Amino acid sequence: MNLQNDLILRAAKGEEIERYPVWLMRQAGRILPEYRAVRNSLSGFKELVETPELAAEVTIQPVDILEVDAAIIFSDILVVPEAMGLSYQMVEKKGPWFEETIRAESELSKLDDNIDVEDRLSYVTEAIRITNKELNGRVPLIGFAGAPWTIFCYMTEGQGSKTFSVARKILYTNPTLAHDLLNRITEVTIQYLHAQVDAGAHLVQVFDSWAGILGHEQYAEFGLKYLDRITEAIKDVPVTVFAKGAYSSMEAIADLSCNTVGLDWNMNMKEVREAIGEKRTLQGNLDPCALYSDHSEVERMTNNMLDSFISKRHIVNLGHGVYPDIDPEKVKTFIKTVKNYEIQF
Ligand code: CP3
Repeated sequence: MNLQNDLILRAAKGEEIERYPVWLMRQAGRILPEYRAVRNSLSGFKELVETPELAAEVTIQPVDILEVDAAIIFSDILVVPEAMGLSYQMVEKKGPWFEETIRAESELSKLDDNIDVEDRLSYVTEAIRITNKELNGRVPLIGFAGAPWTIFCYMTEGQGSKTFSVARKILYTNPTLAHDLLNRITEVTIQYLHAQVDAGAHLVQVFDSWAGILGHEQYAEFGLKYLDRITEAIKDVPVTVFAKGAYSSMEAIADLSCNTVGLDWNMNMKEVREAIGEKRTLQGNLDPCALYSDHSEVERMTNNMLDSFISKRHIVNLGHGVYPDIDPEKVKTFIKTVKNYEIQF
């Protein structure tokens, strides 16, 4: 199907663009009353994730309402551990909860062997097909997965954490187990991303939300090594790597076989650009909290960010997911400002 707006794909590939493309991490979610209406009619988050027609509906909402340049399929990174045999619950106001965790070799038997990833996650590929049909080429559709390290954090810890010290302890006390589990996650993730691309995802993003809690060398061994396998395996669509907090690994991330490097709001866009040159597109990175300011401030800060770019190779986004209590009107101001901006180069 021909895309009417392929700006984000051209930007990712470093091709000519007439303006910067813009979308928001976590755009398909709680900031929209229209999302909450669908969500509240159901038993919970998982029912929404697992019902392809409804997942497609909330995926398209931000395209209609916020006029972003890309849709991102409504799902969660935690569908991967679930497909591997560790099911999760999304506890209201608390976040993810896993009944079972993997903290010793003997516990690897909790995982299912030789799973058919496409079959277990067919609700996601079905949602991708329905979304593309309904979008009818208006904007590209982004597929995604968690990076192996971030998924490892949840599979070992069993819930969110500020430090993920259970996960990090294993890296020191049982690196063999860590690599075994990371390997298994990587294999499933590659199959899962291939399935998303086959179903119609036009670009994929890998979220390494907990990259920043590892030291430089540990991130090379337990993070980048597996991201390298994933980025080498995905060849048919542009790949974005968003490794939150991985300040000292930005050059190494840019050396991966990816098209776009995501930056969080603490990162210095200019410094990263100077370090990596023109070889990758950069994505980000307005502080999500900036959208609590009034409209004129949002506009000013967005223009400031755009003025600071020293190259054209950019996809505009926040530095992390949009916070649930942000006024959607502020998001619209952010998006409008980016769309009205005239590129200087
Ligand atoms: O970007 C989008 O709008 C698509 C949907 C999407 C969700 N989760 C839906 C969701 C995406 C891309 C994710 C990714 C995700 N999930 C990440 C990586 C991105 C990041 O924020 O760092 C992580 C770490 C998770 C795991 C997760 N899911 C947590 C920790 C939580 C609870 C905290 C929270 O943000 O609410 C979730 C729940 C979740 N995932 C919600 C949504 C819309 C809220 C649940 C609800 O609506 O009831």
